[in-house]
Amino acid sequence: MYRKYVHGLNTLVPIEGNRRVPYINFDNAATTPPFKAVMKRINSFSHYYSSVHRGTGYKSIVSSLHYDNARDIVLDFVGADPQFYTAIFVKNTTEAINKLSYRLKDEIKDGIVLSTYMEHHSNDLPWRYKYRVDYVEVDERGRLSLHHLEYLLKRYKGKVKLVTVTGASNVTGYVNPIHRIARLCHKYGSKIMVDGAQLVPHHPVDLKPVDHPEHIDYIAFSAHKMYAPFGIGVLIGPRASFEKGFSENIGGGTVDIVTPKEVIWAPPPEKEEAGTPNLFGVVALVESIKVLKKLGMEAISGYERKLTKYTLERLKEVPNIVIYDDEDIKNKVSIISFNIHGLHHALVAAALAVEGGIGVRSGCFCAQPYVQKLLKVSVKEMEKYKGNMNIPRPGTVRISYGIYNTFDEINVLVELLKQIGSNVDYYNYKYKSLLST
Ligand code: ALA
Repeated sequence: MYRKYVHGLNTLVPIEGNRRVPYINFDNAATTPPFKAVMKRINSFSHYYSSVHRGTGYKSIVSSLHYDNARDIVLDFVGADPQFYTAIFVKNTTEAINKLSYRLKDEIKDGIVLSTYMEHHSNDLPWRYKYRVDYVEVDERGRLSLHHLEYLLKRYKGKVKLVTVTGASNVTGYVNPIHRIARLCHKYGSKIMVDGAQLVPHHPVDLKPVDHPEHIDYIAFSAHKMYAPFGIGVLIGPRASFEKGFSENIGGGTVDIVTPKEVIWAPPPEKEEAGTPNLFGVVALVESIKVLKKLGMEAISGYERKLTKYTLERLKEVPNIVIYDDEDIKNKVSIISFNIHGLHHALVAAALAVEGGIGVRSGCFCAQPYVQKLLKVSVKEMEKYKGNMNIPRPGTVRISYGIYNTFDEINVLVELLKQIGSNVDYYNYKYKSLLST
């Protein structure tokens, strides 16, 4: 139903036996293909493409206006009040979180940041080396423990200045109750930052009014996971957070007055965006938001939930499969992680590509502590991998859907997995060279 909106879906790719088949992309959590409308818009806008905030000609004015208006479109998409919040354009979610970790240094100072054990490294490492960080636990199935969160908030007696949590896991797809978490954070004097990379493309998001106890303080997300792959990401937060101090990147576009002795910074968001802005990225994002709004985020989320439900049911037919999921379909986005018992995850992924033209991702998905928890690999066991690239690492196989994936594609996946799962020895033998060095 949604396939007509997405570009490049009929591309044939080579598989074994000298055959070519339509590519099945089940790796949308990494990146999505572009919307057709996005590609068209990039083309049509290219006739007006010019410098942003750096020219007086007609094209430059059109380009600057388009860029400036985009901020309100993006804020509106996630229900952020433009009087209070600002949208800063960055490269991607990773850059957004790194920026925020730098820009909150006066607010956090020697306070504590709470991250969680289900984060992508991008929502863990930027905080680790600047602040005292503690981690909220996950339960047996990998769901975030709100009890532990509240326990830590209480234990640190008002010292927690920020709780930084994913909106949806890039490994299990579990959606966190961000508004309940926000309420807890605010109750104990902390702010909340949501890594929205996996949530915003798949689920309606509403930051809520700023005087609501459940409002979200900061959110970050990437356009390349929402059908607009031109290198743009967004950091949204209170304008006031960016008024003091200055950006980690400074230079052109960030200032009002510069003399040999003094710098007066431009107001946010401009002071946060050094160098010529990524106009095509913004044009692409605006167009993708237009399409997503037209299709409706509720409808998108509902359709993807059906795909996930169907997959979880059908995967039960696969011999030797281990699925890392609690089947709470309502509270997850369309991401499923699994393993075939006795076969390394990289070999399963390779077999899917070579024999079915199916693209997935395998490994730890830049979320090693979380995958270690899911697979019950202890910190001690991880010692043996240090400095040794030759030992195959733990991990899972991940499938992740976009709006254009179909039940037929899932059937192709399941049939191939059934073959793999019932012939583990054969597949170990066939692909073993991939694991040796
Ligand atoms: N963060 C992206 C993923 O999960 C790249 O694959």
